[in-house]
Amino acid sequence: MKLEELARPAVLTQPVYEPGRPIEDVARELGLDPKGIVKLASNENAFGPSPLAAGAAEKALRHAHLYPDGGTHALRGAIARARGVDPGQIVPGNGSNEIIELLGHVFLGPGDEAVMGTPAFIVYKLVTLLFGAKPVEVPLRNHRHDLGDMAAAVTDKTKLVFLPSPNNPTGTANDAGEITRFARDLPEHAVLVFDEAYAEYLDEPPDLRPLLEEGRPVVCLRTFSKIYGLAAFRLGYAWTTLEMAQLLNRVRQPFNVNAIGQAAAIAALEDREFLETCRAGNRAGLRQWEEGLKALELEWVPSEANFLLVRVGDGAEVFRRMQEAGVIVRPLAPYGLPEHVRVTIGRAGENQRALEALAAMLNKVLPS
Ligand SMILES: Cc1ncc(COP(=O)(O)O)c(C=O)c1O
Repeated sequence: MKLEELARPAVLTQPVYEPGRPIEDVARELGLDPKGIVKLASNENAFGPSPLAAGAAEKALRHAHLYPDGGTHALRGAIARARGVDPGQIVPGNGSNEIIELLGHVFLGPGDEAVMGTPAFIVYKLVTLLFGAKPVEVPLRNHRHDLGDMAAAVTDKTKLVFLPSPNNPTGTANDAGEITRFARDLPEHAVLVFDEAYAEYLDEPPDLRPLLEEGRPVVCLRTFSKIYGLAAFRLGYAWTTLEMAQLLNRVRQPFNVNAIGQAAAIAALEDREFLETCRAGNRAGLRQWEEGLKALELEWVPSEANFLLVRVGDGAEVFRRMQEAGVIVRPLAPYGLPEHVRVTIGRAGENQRALEALAAMLNKVLPS
């Protein structure tokens, strides 16, 4: 008997997530020195982890023989203080990706629907399909979520509504007022999943606490993988109502977040100075890219995050040729954007390398 015959049918048709290519892979394939490769493909923090977080992680290594605190008390306390809510309202996850999966465990099954924009973070769709539910994809307008269109897509079967702001891969955001109105108008059976993976790049991220205080079914997701520079530890969290947190806790594994990451994340939350340095560095990098792209006469979508969606023509070809030049970007055919690539904002030198690779490909010269 073939193993496939034993698998759940949804598994056999499940699309597979394609991550940004790791430096080592590209180096091996193309015979390049990994030290010379620039990775601008996964929206990581180009400025590294906070030194305080790295120090805390090193210290925690000495206790690597012990299981982590499965109740994440210290971490939840630190996050709760940062968010101004009760620690019981915080559910840490193995990346915010895991929380998206936990939401699937709690809410999705055959016959259910999840509303999401397209293009938006692809994991919403993958998780929805994995649980046998139906993704209802609402095309963005001008690369931005149209909340009227999203509301119109909600039916009696809708269980989850995903709204990322800023959105990946477009970098566009919706404002607090429209999000709050949208959330208040949703029917009670539709849980709003407000994905704030890039919130720290906004000057004033929307604060949905009033909705949580009203007891609305809202789950906000944050991550330590982006501005906090801790992607390797896989740490994200939900901040939500107490009732929702209790449901999510029922379906998570006992030790879903590791001890080293917990220690690093607590320290990262305290390192305000590092956060500000990264925000400023990102703003400067965005300006550098915008000027470069203007000179190269390429179109891009104005971004409120740490990446840019750039229209290059043949995205797969540009991805391939930039890779040969030692720069990894993200091709976007899986997001239905074959003419675009997504570039993460890097350090000044990395941005320059990437822009020069693009210029060489287009037979253009960047102004010095
Ligand atoms: C919008 C959005 N949400 C969630 C995530 C997942 O982040 P994590 O590393 O916390 O799983 C990403 C990662 O790229 C993202 O872009």
